[in-house]
Amino acid sequence: MTQYLPDGPTLAFGAATAAYQIEGATTEDGRGASIWDTFAARPGATRDGRDGSVACDSYRRYEEDLDLVVGMNAGWYRFSIAWPRIVPAGTGAVEQRGLDYYDRLVDAALARGVQPTATLYHWDLPQALEDRGGWLERSTAEAFADYAMVVHERLGDRVHVWATHNEPWCAAYLGYAAGIHAPGRKEGGAGHRAAHHLNLGHGLAAARLHGAGVTDVGIVHNLAPFWPETPEAAPAADELDAVRNRIWTGPLAEGAYDEGLLRVAPELADSTLVRDGDLALVRGSADWIGVNYYTPFRPTLADPSLDVHPEVEAYPGVTPVSFVVREPRTDIGWETDASGLEAILVQTHERTGLPIMVTENGAACADDELVDGPDGRPMVADQDRIDYLRDHIGAAEAARKAGADVRGYIVWTLLDNFEWAEGYTKTFGVVHIDAETLARTPKASYHWLAEHIGSASS
Ligand code: FCB
Repeated sequence: MTQYLPDGPTLAFGAATAAYQIEGATTEDGRGASIWDTFAARPGATRDGRDGSVACDSYRRYEEDLDLVVGMNAGWYRFSIAWPRIVPAGTGAVEQRGLDYYDRLVDAALARGVQPTATLYHWDLPQALEDRGGWLERSTAEAFADYAMVVHERLGDRVHVWATHNEPWCAAYLGYAAGIHAPGRKEGGAGHRAAHHLNLGHGLAAARLHGAGVTDVGIVHNLAPFWPETPEAAPAADELDAVRNRIWTGPLAEGAYDEGLLRVAPELADSTLVRDGDLALVRGSADWIGVNYYTPFRPTLADPSLDVHPEVEAYPGVTPVSFVVREPRTDIGWETDASGLEAILVQTHERTGLPIMVTENGAACADDELVDGPDGRPMVADQDRIDYLRDHIGAAEAARKAGADVRGYIVWTLLDNFEWAEGYTKTFGVVHIDAETLARTPKASYHWLAEHIGSASS
């Protein structure tokens, strides 16, 4: 039973960020290297060749950023903790100065009446652990649970709502199979192996956190609807649902990888990888689930005008498909369809029965330019994002009405930031960041949200 997750008569609202995307200061206060420092330094790894070494400089400007959360009327701030700031070598010595930073951040949030919710792993694995095999090794899952406890010991008196991983699907498949995220390995079935160790890491950490009295342990997934474009693509859509969604919800709800999943991911039937007790540990280990949603997927078989999707190439056992992407699309090329959010929330409710937070939703927009407003002050007129947010908040409310236990909506993201392989070329923030000065300017969407949240909660 969750005790601290929002549970009001209307949706709670928040803003999300992630450590590597906003903090900068990557060599400050004893922080160790992460796989994203290493990966982003590879020529061609990020679209603009840039990395997170400066990002939004939130490591120093966190108070200003929390003021922005308050100004948006958001009650929750979802942030992530950089493992290499806390345990720079992945295991062993703890860096107090790293803990001190999050201590200050949490106090500053609470002082402003904002509830902090911490994600322990948003993709910045200590490089030292990658050097020993990263998520392909079981020892990384064990190290993760140790690190989780170090963070909990320091912050657990004030942070009550925890998430273990953010989108482990990306960490596993984009990182180890598609090679487009850190650590940039392209090893086919390795994605499934990494996925199991991420599930296990969650289970080990959740057990220890529960043992220490935590009541609200969650995990955040980018679950997605797969809508076959044609009847012939229906079996492939089911396979994709298995490797993208059921690989996570199956262990949580049933303590098992289902047969359809094992058919396309035979690695998961290997008892030296999935050991006795692993899945039983994961079953029931989450008190809540976070859903990050951006777009639906419409698989189609062999459409010669479309290439097989690079993410699909990362699953050797899955029927090769392409995705039809309908209009309208956001600036990152993702189809906009809010009904997909309602569908995935209802499906997640049916599959897990857990309380749900929409832990990310938002849009990259091309109209994110700073222009002179009518009063002469700089402004960003991101009407596209306002439309996107309005429709998706409506979809979250509709899912709630349809019976899904949706507690809150957290917008991705507070600030324009380092968008992984896209570098700084795609902007999702409701606050604009000046590339030179890092000055923060709230966009029209920020003001719209402030008003919407203010009137929804009054
Ligand atoms: C999600 C990530 C988040 C951000 C958004 C756009 O996959 O969790 O960090 O990059 O997409």
